[in-house]
Amino acid sequence: MSKRKIVVAYSGGLDTSVMVKWLSEKYNAEIITATGFLGQVKEIEGVKEKAKLTGAVKSYIFDLREEFISNYAWKALKASALYEGTYPMATAIGRPLLAKMLVDVAIQEGADSVAHGCTGKGNDQVRFEVGVQSLAPSLNVIAPLRIWEFKSREEEMEYALNNNIPIKATKDNPYSIDENLWGLAVECGVLEDPTVAPPEDAYQITINPKNAPDQPAAITIGFEKGIPTTLNGVELNPVELVSQLRDLGAAYGIGRLDMIENRVVGIKSREIYEAPAAVILHHAHSELERLVLDKETFRYKQNVSNKIANLIYDGLWYSPLFKSLMAFVDSTQENITGEIKLEFYKGNIKTLSRNSVFSLYNKNLATYTIEDTFDHKASEGFIKIYGLPYKTLAQVKSSSKEEVTA
Ligand code: ARG
Repeated sequence: MSKRKIVVAYSGGLDTSVMVKWLSEKYNAEIITATGFLGQVKEIEGVKEKAKLTGAVKSYIFDLREEFISNYAWKALKASALYEGTYPMATAIGRPLLAKMLVDVAIQEGADSVAHGCTGKGNDQVRFEVGVQSLAPSLNVIAPLRIWEFKSREEEMEYALNNNIPIKATKDNPYSIDENLWGLAVECGVLEDPTVAPPEDAYQITINPKNAPDQPAAITIGFEKGIPTTLNGVELNPVELVSQLRDLGAAYGIGRLDMIENRVVGIKSREIYEAPAAVILHHAHSELERLVLDKETFRYKQNVSNKIANLIYDGLWYSPLFKSLMAFVDSTQENITGEIKLEFYKGNIKTLSRNSVFSLYNKNLATYTIEDTFDHKASEGFIKIYGLPYKTLAQVKSSSKEEVTA
């Protein structure tokens, strides 16, 4: 009988390297590794060879950057999805794509299980597993970190040593980092104390705003139907556009976030984010929406954005509700076409100009000069009727001698 096959989401780090060997022994299985390249600056070169040395029978590496930005980041951007109003969710949008990669490899290889290196208290286990369940309900998911015997990094190191698993003897990074083109997340170490400000070494890609250039930089981002397509008038492919904004933003100290957030499992955790490209693009996109969307759509979309952010964070990317709400979002983006000019200066973004052929801003209505065309007298009747329910309420309260509280 042929051995069972397990596809492992492989990063090349200690956990997933130990996992390859541990799974093959524990389940008497052939291990196939799959690594997704989502644009992390950290080298992933050599990962394939490393997987083989670790005992994998086959190893895949996929450049998923284009798919990641076009099908995942752009959706989050159009939806203005910022978790708890702040986090642009680089990790949260990457997981469903990696889950899809695992499923694709498992189907191609005839594997019955997939495995990931997430812990039992984080969000990523939820995102991986709900993603896999939604795409391939018959696949089994194994999460070794939730069940194996190792209680520390040292124990894993010892196992690696005893089993000839090649582990780079790098200086212990005190932080746990997850990274892709859209942004980077840093936790652990001193960051676990919310009374402590992040030390400079917690930041991996952005310069301290204090040390950013003394001269500001101005850039123009062009959008078409909610999607950024040009930078300073030059059409760029999605990966190039995001890479350039990430590097430029990082050089100006843009995109540093420090937040306490509510995890899916109920824990509050503290995380540092560096997401220059995402922060710049959300800023620009929202400036364009302010100019173009009608009042009711703008206000309603804020609620939808919040809901979509929660769905993404909670691992429900492939859910019917996410799909339906995205259909709403896409419809709101019909006219989100135009240019936003921004200035970067020591960690800050300033809007220099907004422009769209679909702009609803009408200077003749807004102006306080002689050019004013707004019918001021019409406001009188409008307010009379608009305020009628509250006037009626106050009248009832005073006639019943009740204290007016409203
Ligand atoms: N808190 C973020 C999320 O749940 C990031 C998780 C990964 N963070 C990390 N430092 N490894 O999306």
